[in-house]
Amino acid sequence: MKAVTFTEYGGPDVLHVTDVEEPHPGPGQVRIVVRAAGVNPVDWKARSGLMRDVMPVSFPAIDGREAAGVVDEVGPDVAGVAVGDEVFGFAVGGAAAERAILDDLVHKPAGLSWEEAAGLPVAVETSVRVFTVLGGVKEGQTLVVNGAAGGVGAAAVQLARARDARVIGTASERNHEFVRTLGAEPTTYGPGLVERVRALAPEGVDLAFDTAGQGGVPDLITLTGDPARVATIADFAAAALGVKVTGGGDARATEALGEAAALIEAGRLRVAVAQTFTFAQAADAHRLSQDGHVRGKLVLVPG
Ligand SMILES: NC(=O)c1ccc[n+]([C@@H]2O[C@H](COP(=O)([O-])OP(=O)(O)OC[C@H]3O[C@@H](n4cnc5c(N)ncnc54)[C@H](OP(=O)(O)O)[C@@H]3O)[C@@H](O)[C@H]2O)c1
Repeated sequence: MKAVTFTEYGGPDVLHVTDVEEPHPGPGQVRIVVRAAGVNPVDWKARSGLMRDVMPVSFPAIDGREAAGVVDEVGPDVAGVAVGDEVFGFAVGGAAAERAILDDLVHKPAGLSWEEAAGLPVAVETSVRVFTVLGGVKEGQTLVVNGAAGGVGAAAVQLARARDARVIGTASERNHEFVRTLGAEPTTYGPGLVERVRALAPEGVDLAFDTAGQGGVPDLITLTGDPARVATIADFAAAALGVKVTGGGDARATEALGEAAALIEAGRLRVAVAQTFTFAQAADAHRLSQDGHVRGKLVLVPG
């Protein structure tokens, strides 16, 4: 089968579409015919070797970790999923391939496109995991999402709104209207953030979620008044400040995909696909992701 692979760490140009052996599902897994695969910053971090100490890859490596498609093989000990079902979820051993193995999946709501479905797993799972780390996000609370227009930020805003929290989301000016459509009050990140947020929420902020990892954590601690009320997924050094840090190595929030599917069905969650690339254009998708200003999600489709 064709897959987007790399055989060494390096820049985007190490990605190539090559022929690899088809995988088969083990216990608790299914195989899908991939219709779309989501792109995440962790993909270029893994490809570049930036994460080789914490998350080494074995070569040849297949790009990607989330996908949507049609089940064509079901492994042992799998209930409720059959050949022909349309699903999306987390891939094991790569997602940007004609076939992928999923180990955490749900049925795709009928109204959701393949591209939208492929862009959900990482964003919603990460958001739900962070909410848990923060002790829950509830009605009556105000949450600041730093980096609200990206893949994770956009999901976090909507999932917090679904919990009836008030959300203030930071983004560059060009993304403010987008952030507003997600249900958050937008403001610009960077110098003066504390004053801008205090002007929006003079009564104070309960919780903060840093998706950006760009040095905003100290301001978020000032706003919440307590590092334990701040979580980051991208600034691992900020653990020294006492904030909550969670990474892909932590236990997965397995309830997240089901919640996302239900919210999609209810019209309360949507995925903004910024751009779709073919497998052959995977290097371009990585370049754009690495640039750090994606609005919503980037997606790969076979071809
Ligand atoms: N630890 C985990 O479990 C976990 C899970 C998923 C992702 N992550 C990490 O979390 C980060 C975000 O992932 P993602 O998929 O959401 O990335 P993304 O889709 O590429 O989004 C990046 C967003 O960051 C915003 N941004 C850029 N500079 C900023 C700054 N100085 N302050 C605030 N926001 C800024 C951008 O907004 P503008 O375009 O408006 O500038 C953009 O929307 C990545 O580093 C990723 O590796 C970690």
